[in-house]
Amino acid sequence: MTASPQSDLSIEPGHFDRIIDRTGTSATKVQKYAGQDVLPFWIADMDFETPEFIHQAIAKRLEHPILGYTDVPKALYAQACDWLFKAHGWRVPTEWLVWLPGVVPGLNLATRATVDTGSLVLPTPVYYPFREVAHNQGVPSTELPLVRHNNRWIMDLDAMAERLPADAQTLLLCNPQNPTGRAYTVPELQALIRFCQSHNLTLCSDEIHSQLLLDETATHTPIASLDSDFAQQTISLYAPTKTYNMPGLSSAFAVIPNADLRQRFRDARAGMVSSPSVLAYAAASAAFTYEGNWRHELLRYLRSNHQQLQNLIAAELPGRATPVEATYLAWMDLTEFGIEDIHGYFLEQGLGLSDGAAFGLPGFARFNFACPAPVLERGLERLQTALRRLAKDH
Ligand SMILES: Cc1ncc(COP(=O)(O)O)c(C=O)c1O
Repeated sequence: MTASPQSDLSIEPGHFDRIIDRTGTSATKVQKYAGQDVLPFWIADMDFETPEFIHQAIAKRLEHPILGYTDVPKALYAQACDWLFKAHGWRVPTEWLVWLPGVVPGLNLATRATVDTGSLVLPTPVYYPFREVAHNQGVPSTELPLVRHNNRWIMDLDAMAERLPADAQTLLLCNPQNPTGRAYTVPELQALIRFCQSHNLTLCSDEIHSQLLLDETATHTPIASLDSDFAQQTISLYAPTKTYNMPGLSSAFAVIPNADLRQRFRDARAGMVSSPSVLAYAAASAAFTYEGNWRHELLRYLRSNHQQLQNLIAAELPGRATPVEATYLAWMDLTEFGIEDIHGYFLEQGLGLSDGAAFGLPGFARFNFACPAPVLERGLERLQTALRRLAKDH
């Protein structure tokens, strides 16, 4: 029997509708367009209050007057493992975990630890820091395009095999997928496991969006949990920061079942990548042990926002946005309009969107709909004008 979530009294009706002014906090999302009449729907953080229980955990830690160097709390290892089991049914021992200040450093370290004589491969479009890893680490890389099939973005493994360089050593996976919003199914993941095994690839899987499933029929399965032999050639990355809207409290962890690989990963970070901060530990601990219904309420809200966005696109430019199974990011195909500067085009309409070019697909735009409904409403009015103008001009 699954326990029903506790109610959380801080989630009063209208909780997610509250518009919170982020001016003066140097928030990356609003800073970019400061002083302009631009609604920011770009970087992947949410405009909702970070939940009360996270604030309380930090306040509690601040009751102690010293914020000194702090080891990863022993309890946090167990809490993260328990969370992984409860959330995704994957039982892992605490020794497999390596704490990090972020998932992006994890992608870079995984590459540093596993690509030596060969190269990196990555299905694209993908969250842009994936595309920067090869340059950062000074290794060659090849992008393997996802394809759209029945209105879903999938990995065409035959086409990927054809493009795969002979020296490929590591594949970077994003699941759930940013920006296409896919939550890969178990059969898709199993096929990818066979692909990696037959090409002898280490797999690094970024699963930061694993708890943001919008499609109620979708599931999240950690790829490394599907096959214990294959798990030996994997690095899986998680963080509580997306789900609970606290990416400014940098914290993440890697799960690395293979002891030798784990050591190489640790060696790769030595002297360069620190652990999370003392307040991030407090917040992560609260996130992993929380049993209330904040996330369920959040998902309900995001589903409604997603529906409104999809309705608008279906009415104005049908078929240009695939359904978002997970994440709070919609991916719009505007390639037929031949707009060279997608970001600039939407900026003229007062919308700060992410340009698909950064993700490896020019002509696309990504829309972050994790915001209060009244803000989304204003954004959708502007989007409607922008899409109508496109339809009219072409
Ligand atoms: C797929 C994915 N990975 C990683 C990150 C960022 O992770 P971190 O802030 O822990 O480095 C994001 C943020 O948008 C993301 O979407």
